[in-house]
Amino acid sequence: MCGIVGYVGPQDARDVVLEGLRRLEYRGYDSAGIAVLADGSLATAKKAGKLANLEKVLAETPLPSATTAIGHTRWATHGGPTDRNAHPHVSADGSVAVIHNGIIENFASLRAECEATGIEFLSETDTEVAAHLLAAAYREAPEGEGRLAEAMRAVCRRLEGAFTLVATHVAEPDTLVAARRSSPLVVGSGRTADGTAEYFLGSDVAAFIGHTRNALELGQDQVVEIDRTRGVSVTDFGGAAAEPVAYTVDWDAAAAEKGGYGWFMLKEIAEQPQAVADTLLGRLGAHGELVLDEVRLSDQELRDIDKIFVVACGTAYHAGLIAKYAIEHWTRIPVEVEVASEFRYRDPVLDRSTLVVVISQSGETMDTLMALRHARDQKARVLAICNANGSTIPRESDAVLYTHAGPEIAVASTKGFLTQVVACYLVGLFLAQVRGMKFEDEVASIVEDLRKLPDAVAQVLAEMEPVRELARSLADADTILFLGRHVGFPVALEGALKLKELAYIHAEGFAAGELKHGPIALIDQGTPVVVVVPSPRSRESVHGKVVSNIQEVRARGALTIVIAEEGDEDVVPYADHLIRVPRTPTLLAPVVTTVPLQVLACEIADTRGLDVDQPRNLAKSVTVE
Ligand code: AGP
Repeated sequence: MCGIVGYVGPQDARDVVLEGLRRLEYRGYDSAGIAVLADGSLATAKKAGKLANLEKVLAETPLPSATTAIGHTRWATHGGPTDRNAHPHVSADGSVAVIHNGIIENFASLRAECEATGIEFLSETDTEVAAHLLAAAYREAPEGEGRLAEAMRAVCRRLEGAFTLVATHVAEPDTLVAARRSSPLVVGSGRTADGTAEYFLGSDVAAFIGHTRNALELGQDQVVEIDRTRGVSVTDFGGAAAEPVAYTVDWDAAAAEKGGYGWFMLKEIAEQPQAVADTLLGRLGAHGELVLDEVRLSDQELRDIDKIFVVACGTAYHAGLIAKYAIEHWTRIPVEVEVASEFRYRDPVLDRSTLVVVISQSGETMDTLMALRHARDQKARVLAICNANGSTIPRESDAVLYTHAGPEIAVASTKGFLTQVVACYLVGLFLAQVRGMKFEDEVASIVEDLRKLPDAVAQVLAEMEPVRELARSLADADTILFLGRHVGFPVALEGALKLKELAYIHAEGFAAGELKHGPIALIDQGTPVVVVVPSPRSRESVHGKVVSNIQEVRARGALTIVIAEEGDEDVVPYADHLIRVPRTPTLLAPVVTTVPLQVLACEIADTRGLDVDQPRNLAKSVTVE
């Protein structure tokens, strides 16, 4: 939530920061702002609404050119999305500008303290206190190098909550100082064509991948000072030197561009065959075995596991629901799946032999991070499934399995989801292999099925024109229901979530068997009902039951939209619209059946004239609880 960009270097900092904001706008888009340090004073521009509004202001009234600047795109928490509440916030004496991501929980008492000294607040944000406190702390800090960093440490020691703060001070024109506690922040360091050093700060690497791939990952409760001549130095909040972790970003700038697609979401949907292939790459051995060297848990630790919790939010939670079916089936270990925001508050029973699998595309979702910390406090082992390298969740986990989806910019997760599901399969199969729950040839046969997934997804994508046509006819629907059984149930939930978040149409996903216990009353003449049909080869005639469910809703007037595998003729008489997917083993089917639902939601939103990539009220990475 909230995009943060900072730059110190020889280039025009206004351009670098604006470019970074364009790349980070997906993190929040209620307002945007920029501050530059030029000729010994701060100049700011900020505007409510999308970045385009700020760009318009800057085109009419340009800021002076500068070599140090900070910029922010906001997802409002304290104070509405107005010009006044937009960041950066400047201290009353005009010396400090601050941008912030997170929530300063004790801001009310700090604000009262500032007001008692005569400071008049200009915004309703929690952030503004940091600007005033920092200006005061700077006056108190010893003169000389590192004064702003010292002031930042003093302020951070007083703040409660989660925050990333970036500050610039008029007395230190070549310096930026930043701090982080439980909120994301990465440092980029590069050189311009003539070899001059330049430095970047960003909420994530997308902020600067157009300039450098050299990044530094900061730890918890750390302050970083970046100075054009002295370079980068990191300390903890107490002032003790700390060593940041250097890494090379393997995403390139082009991967974070639309590449000719109208929406990032369309591009990311199209990238799914590759993303799935990349997530499998190197993990399927030549003899049909699983090779997960990066899972840093010993075989003995994996054998000792007697219970698994999968914890995640939103779409990632749906991936977890699918994981439950596969992992329990393959390993016979009980699996519970929970939304992260509920997990730690209900005192779950965890111990050393519990494996907690946390799933997060961004690696920064605060609810998931807090659940992870709770699990580790209770001595459980934590395995993260994550897409963003260098993010907080994998760093704090005992083990990590990265999905290799590449940057996901659209707020609605697509390739992130598919690769999470695939990673869950890998975890399940690996556990089965290590614990001897499956014969080698059984694992090898499932591995063969996994290898076919990228082509199966590509085949679905090649046949999406009828889905797009159907979507256009559904654009005025008031409500759309989604039904599924077994792994089709989480797919139904995911289809409904996609539609809600993108098209703002009421949508609900149901376990098809639950329909008769209440929700069937929602069905009226013409209500669109999407049904995810399992393979006719699925166990215990789930298929037959779903076919009956289609008939039940149709008998009550529903318009049935049926997703069924090739060759399934049983559904034909009851489908008003039939979407075919390739034959895929039951447990792996979500990887193909989800895709038409993504396309459906995307196209309906587009037909309704909505912003597909940046739906209202949302942000890509939810870094507040
Ligand atoms: C997906 O379309 C959503 N925008 C959202 O539910 C998302 O999946 C959720 O916030 C979790 O994000 P994460 O994977 O980055 O932790």
